Amino acid sequence: MDIQGYRRPAPGTQPAYLHPPYASTAKRAPTKPLILLPHTLSEVTGPVFGHERIGPNDHDLTRQHEGEPIGERIIVSGRVLDEDNRPVPEALIELWQCNAAGRYRHKNDTHGAPLDPNFTGCGRLLTDREGRYQFVTIKPGAYPWRNHLNAWRPAHIHFSLFGAGLLSRLVTQMYFPGDPLLPYDPIFTSIPEEQARNRLVSAFDWHTTEPEHALGYRFDIILRGREATPMEP
Ligand SMILES: [Fe+2]
Repeated sequence: MDIQGYRRPAPGTQPAYLHPPYASTAKRAPTKPLILLPHTLSEVTGPVFGHERIGPNDHDLTRQHEGEPIGERIIVSGRVLDEDNRPVPEALIELWQCNAAGRYRHKNDTHGAPLDPNFTGCGRLLTDREGRYQFVTIKPGAYPWRNHLNAWRPAHIHFSLFGAGLLSRLVTQMYFPGDPLLPYDPIFTSIPEEQARNRLVSAFDWHTTEPEHALGYRFDIILRGREATPMEP
């Protein structure tokens, strides 16, 4: 059987493994040239993850506790597409984020901002037949991260996707339009090509903005190909 491998990413569209302004890349970047392996059947077609049941409130991070979380309620939606612009149905999307004050519910987060008893910050869902998805959550806050003096991460939501196979796995971060911290963020700016970098910035969306309820943001995700959504470094 003749296996068609995936196209390799165009230069400049993915973050460099070593990006000195993002300090921890120095510890994990490969020190020797990479050996390119051919894409075989197992990389192109599997494995497929995430067959556990998705809970009824897993897509709505504002309804996972007794009360509602503090913060600006938002609806994050979009489509997951493959390299030929075809929708990817039943892709598992998982997301995680800090609360509106910029604090993660995680033991390693020691930022002096309050936790929110009504917010865990994790969600998951499967895309529908047209590759669409929609989460309800609150807008995450900026937080300091000690990478350099006065280092603050722009507001972001972490995304993990399992597409049709191992090579369509994507771990990335979604940002918000107009965030003044973006040009100062070495994680965002580690993607050399500006166009590719800006694919990580969601767009404000009137169509999904709901009166008296929440602002809509659109974030389309492309797995592989020339227009691929960049990985996080
Ligand atoms: Fe984060």
